[in-house]
Amino acid sequence: MALYAIGDLHLHHQSPLKARAQMTERVWKNHEEKLRRECETLLTPEDTLVLVGDHSWGRKLSECEEDFRYIMSLPGRKILTRGNHDMFWDAGKTGELNRLFAGKLEFLQGGYARYGDYALVATKGACFEGPFYLDRRGRVAGWDEDAAAHAEKIVERELARLRASFEAARKDGFRRFIMFLHYPPTNILETESGFTRMAEEYGAQQVIYAHCHGESRFHDSILGDLNGVKYSLVSGDFRLWEPMRVL
Ligand SMILES: [Fe+2]
Repeated sequence: MALYAIGDLHLHHQSPLKARAQMTERVWKNHEEKLRRECETLLTPEDTLVLVGDHSWGRKLSECEEDFRYIMSLPGRKILTRGNHDMFWDAGKTGELNRLFAGKLEFLQGGYARYGDYALVATKGACFEGPFYLDRRGRVAGWDEDAAAHAEKIVERELARLRASFEAARKDGFRRFIMFLHYPPTNILETESGFTRMAEEYGAQQVIYAHCHGESRFHDSILGDLNGVKYSLVSGDFRLWEPMRVL
């Protein structure tokens, strides 16, 4: 039994493709087939695959059906968490999605998922992504303060959701945690955040995140061990479509 993770599939079987990189960059060419090959090589039916957000470009459920059929056809148990592009997934409708796909897909938002004696906790996360203003040498000299204040509100809401998930798991007796975020835990200026502090507070062993695409973004946040927590980026193009083994 093993736990794997990958993110940012950005499937588009029934919906218009919206990312230029997916049309032009080699890593995205037939990426569904590459991912399928990797999954079929690595995963057995007893394994679990966490898909860390940005599953589909479809704006509503009916535009995601084929994308979900593709995900369901991958081996193992599949747990989906929310990304910023998952328009089909209103946070309040997670229960409905879980009823609709019962026995096929699990949608994790609020609460936690059990994996052996681990609790998997997940939320979309958030961080201020700019706009940043650069000086003549290309160093960050300032940023849009209104946008930063707005981002801060979303960060607080996401932290509250995450804390509720940790607390629910702890109440049920879990002491081992893996934390999943779609957004990176810190932005390009931060070395810590409410998310890193919460991971440390609850003793999460790992923080897994996605969202950072393209080589210029791969080092936007923390990679590797920091204060006893292991941080990993699992966006599909970073992983070259090979799911990362988490446990
Ligand atoms: Fe994203």
